[in-house]
Amino acid sequence: MITNTRREWPAFPLALLMIIGSGQALGQIPAAASRAPHLEKRTASTQLIVDGQPFLILGGELHNSSSSSVAYMKPIWPRLAAMHLNTVLAPVAWETIEPEEGRFDFGVVDGLIQRARQNNLRLVFLWFGSWKNTYSSYVPAWVKSNTQRFPRVQTSDGRDTERLSPFSLANRDADARAFAALMRHVKETDSDAHTVIMVQVENEVGVVPDSRDRSAAANAALAAPVPAELTSYLQQHRAALVPDFRAIWEANGSKTSGSWQEVFGQSALTDDLFMSWNYATYINHVAAAGKAEYPLPMYVNAALIRPNYQPGQYNSGGPLPHSMDIWRAGAPSIDLLSPDIYLDDFAEWCQKYIRPDNPLFIPEARGGAEGAANAFYALGQVSAIGFSPFGIDSEDTPPVASTPGLGNTESSRGAPIAYAYATLSHLAPLILEKQTTGEIASVVLEGDAQRAARVSLGDYTMTVTRSVNATADASAAAARTSALFLQTGPNEYIVAGSGSALITFAASTPGLPIVGIESIDEEFFDGGQWVLGRRLNGDENSQGQVLKLNSDDSAQGRIYRVRLYRYR
Ligand code: DGJ
Repeated sequence: MITNTRREWPAFPLALLMIIGSGQALGQIPAAASRAPHLEKRTASTQLIVDGQPFLILGGELHNSSSSSVAYMKPIWPRLAAMHLNTVLAPVAWETIEPEEGRFDFGVVDGLIQRARQNNLRLVFLWFGSWKNTYSSYVPAWVKSNTQRFPRVQTSDGRDTERLSPFSLANRDADARAFAALMRHVKETDSDAHTVIMVQVENEVGVVPDSRDRSAAANAALAAPVPAELTSYLQQHRAALVPDFRAIWEANGSKTSGSWQEVFGQSALTDDLFMSWNYATYINHVAAAGKAEYPLPMYVNAALIRPNYQPGQYNSGGPLPHSMDIWRAGAPSIDLLSPDIYLDDFAEWCQKYIRPDNPLFIPEARGGAEGAANAFYALGQVSAIGFSPFGIDSEDTPPVASTPGLGNTESSRGAPIAYAYATLSHLAPLILEKQTTGEIASVVLEGDAQRAARVSLGDYTMTVTRSVNATADASAAAARTSALFLQTGPNEYIVAGSGSALITFAASTPGLPIVGIESIDEEFFDGGQWVLGRRLNGDENSQGQVLKLNSDDSAQGRIYRVRLYRYR
């Protein structure tokens, strides 16, 4: 049994803990002759495998222009490492690597890889190629200035916009050549170390403010038959199609041939589906050219839809929930469709993107206390392969004096992402293990309107109730609360989280016996292992009635081990 001394977790010996999960830093891993980073189906979830081990991305995305300068980035790397990130999402712009056609300059790319390695960080490169937030602001000047050769999305009056048209093979092939050169270079310089673990292809594509490209090429494609690859996908996957999307197809007679408007109807939504197919197939060509050089996992990211927005008010043609099947059919070289979740209903958006063929990765989200809470939810409840707040270089860093750990009695709330990532990085081995067995769950309470939520895991149901009135307490930490549960035995859970909450436990089946709390122990990660803190069976848990999560648990590096028992 547990004694009040330093000890290892029985379920997770220290030796194993050092090898996998957060022992993912480059300084700690053996020189990797192993397979390139890849996705692998592992029982209950699909995981990212790096150097032969499952890897949980505790990431952060840089501001758009930070990574264009190695000098600018120099002081930022150590700060990111001190925030317990293990991965940085860094843009690589087409204009940076191919300033003149056919002449490639990988100086910045090499500088990013070198500095990331020196700081024990991995990289996800964001390919700012043809599109960045619908625009083409990162294409080289030789592309930007030659609109004859590299045609643009046009408005209905025939005017060019500052967006490359996805209907141009010249655009597509020039982008693909540059991306292939980038991936070739990454392979040459990094296929041993695996600093670069994944790549985003383009950024938040789509058309605004119109619902589609109105160029002559686009008009001709709209009137042409829907490609057979798509119509046969519809027939083969009919039962599994996204319900909203299937409803559109079926409402128009489930046709298996015809023009876009014949098959999907004459509406702005058809424009969106049509653009989705054309962005998807273009990006698939670019991604396939890159993968032919070096097959890292690749994903696209989506700007989400606000309520009641119409195609063109949102990015028409982006990888959105209603068009996921079109993207799957059109872009088989893209492994993940990933949501950038800045909207309030975080959990709902996660649920919209998680499908058997689409493990969840969240490349952009809000940071701060809200991001900290969302990270616990995403990694726990939907087994995300990673989480990454945007603008990580502006996130607060922890004060040096308040390192989380045993005996730290200072309450420090200054750097929620850093504290959450400290806890999550120490829990990463267990999280990764439990993602594969399904013995993991979490809840998030979003905004004051949501006072409580329930989740079942094993034989028990946990009710998580907000213990701070978010309206009265305007702090960001009060606005969002989350709790992560890892089942470590039939009657035992590790609990960690963000924000303040009261947690009660009940049997998942109604009636007797009653569930009681046998014990609650706090644990801290100290000196490379989990250390037992206090037993909290008094006022701290209302004499065994409830587990209290405190808003400074992450800052203190505190998690809880809860044991339950039953009585009549
Ligand atoms: C979403 C984009 O994908 C990012 O590159 C950045 O522009 C953010 N929006 C800014 O909030």
